[in-house]
Amino acid sequence: MLVRWFWKRYVRSRLPALMIGFLLMALEGGALGALSYLVRPLFDNVFIAGNRQAVLVVALIVFAVFIARAIAGFTQRMLMALVARKVSADIQCDLVAHMLTLDSRFYQENSPGILMERVLGDPGAAAGVISTTFSAFGRDLVALVSLLGVALYIDWLWTLIAIAGAPLLVLPILLLQRLVRNMSRATLNASARVTNRLSELFHGINTVKLNTIEEHESRRFANAVSRLVDYTLRAAAANAGIPALMDVIAAIGFLGVLTYGGYQIIDGSKTVGEFMSFFTAISLVFEPLRRLGAIAGAWQAALVSLERIYDIFQMRPAITSPARPAQLGIPIGQADIRLENVSFSYGSQPVIENASFTAPAGRTTALVGASGAGKSTVFGLLTRLIDPDDGRILLGDTDIRNLDLRTLRGLFSVVTQDAQMFDETIRDNILLGSEADEAALARALDAAHVTDFLSSQPEGLDSRAGPRGSALSGGQRQRVAIARALLRDTPILLLDEATSALDARSEAIVQSALERLSEGRTTLVIAHRLSTVRNADKIVVMDQGRVVDEGTHDTLIAREGIYRNLYRLQFSPKREERENGAAPGANRAD
Ligand SMILES: Nc1ncnc2c1ncn2[C@@H]1O[C@H](COP(=O)(O)OP(=O)(O)OP(=O)(O)O)[C@@H](O)[C@H]1O
Ligand SMILES: [Mg+2]
Repeated sequence: MLVRWFWKRYVRSRLPALMIGFLLMALEGGALGALSYLVRPLFDNVFIAGNRQAVLVVALIVFAVFIARAIAGFTQRMLMALVARKVSADIQCDLVAHMLTLDSRFYQENSPGILMERVLGDPGAAAGVISTTFSAFGRDLVALVSLLGVALYIDWLWTLIAIAGAPLLVLPILLLQRLVRNMSRATLNASARVTNRLSELFHGINTVKLNTIEEHESRRFANAVSRLVDYTLRAAAANAGIPALMDVIAAIGFLGVLTYGGYQIIDGSKTVGEFMSFFTAISLVFEPLRRLGAIAGAWQAALVSLERIYDIFQMRPAITSPARPAQLGIPIGQADIRLENVSFSYGSQPVIENASFTAPAGRTTALVGASGAGKSTVFGLLTRLIDPDDGRILLGDTDIRNLDLRTLRGLFSVVTQDAQMFDETIRDNILLGSEADEAALARALDAAHVTDFLSSQPEGLDSRAGPRGSALSGGQRQRVAIARALLRDTPILLLDEATSALDARSEAIVQSALERLSEGRTTLVIAHRLSTVRNADKIVVMDQGRVVDEGTHDTLIAREGIYRNLYRLQFSPKREERENGAAPGANRAD
């Protein structure tokens, strides 16, 4: 079934190239039979008969056969390489396109290294089997049949003696194949672990250095590599075992034919030419036979890869657009965001428990609470990166699950806590594929105070941000992320610690830009620094996944609650001194 899927989806469209390749392979394979057949007239009619004119003719025919074989072999190999590359590229592109539709949960369960291995390793392994199979049936089977034909034509009894041992091979080959399959699976897994270690190491290089765990990490890597080597060697041994077995059988066959046939030639019942021709044919038989024997192993390995590719294609995102998306019942400008008894958990770990609150349309609502309270998770729920296990989230009077997913996400601009960047230019990081309106871009850059640091960048707006934005400082990344949000210009704004990495002065300026931006937009702000949420129209206090209080700053301060405690902690006299001084506490790194 797996093979049928593979054939239909990826191979069938390449059939013309494969058929031409197949014919050329048959030509290449048949050439071997022709050569061994020519050996007999060469000896009997030319050398032994002393026929001078025929020497050139036979030589030219042998020459022509070799040239034909060269051309057929070259073209055929190119065609096969082409098909294999194209099929593997098709699978890779489809895989990535499909993976991008999968939920964030998928990416939490599968680390980047593993996924990279799926995309880089498996498609090639699966596509490689196409050329192996076609060469086996085109070239090798034709060679085998033509060579055996020549051998049988010369003496069927010799032929039988020569290949008498072949049936003995069946069982060992089957066993070896099973080993190949198991080892290929183990090799691919080990290889994924190596890729994974590498990606973790290089991403976390500074953590490695600061904790001086270079040696520890080197050892871990060496372990992963040695496991990979181990499995690769075992797979290679299993693969190498098959041709070795073939040679043993060949040895037995030759022993029989040489002793039996040798006497016949001395007695004069067979010619030297017949024997030479037979000997050539049988010697050449074992190579295609070996390759035909290896094809089963190749399929075992390819099936492992195909299975894993197929498994990924079978995965469906749980978070999708509804078949018939609803329209918002009221204009987005008047649509409150409302959580109704929302619960969410990661596995068995409840993260949001029965949370309800309303973020009024066009107003600013702040989410405050201790680290781990579930604030960022609420943003994930609003944008449907995750869906609640229970309860619902309404935009106006429409459940967000009933809206088209692209439309829904198009309503939001999100500045995330980690201000994710790509290794592209600052411009590309802000535009993210949207059309550039230079005037709007310049306004966004100014408002987010990106302009301030552009002059210090080697190529201004076209400087690269480095791998995951590492060429920018935390605060610079944050400003780029804010510019991105400003440019998107959407009705809803989600700011998760958007200014936490800025120095006090920049923060004050960017904050005022954000406040201007949030006018008339439904805005949700997460901030640990309560000074930034003081002016919010409404403050929602979260604690351990629950909404424990809500109100304005003044009403919450008046109550003896978590908010007042948080506020006191931040604005105790000592703290205030520090904040009013050089403001070191304000420059909290991300
Ligand atoms: N991918 C995840 N898998 C498992 N648990 C998670 C995952 N993401 C978050 N959590 C858990 O969910 C809880 C809430 O996380 P969340 O990021 O919403 O907290 P937060 O209020 O934003 O905290 P902070 O102020 O530190 O950003 C935490 O206890 C965290 O351990
Ligand atoms: Mg958070």
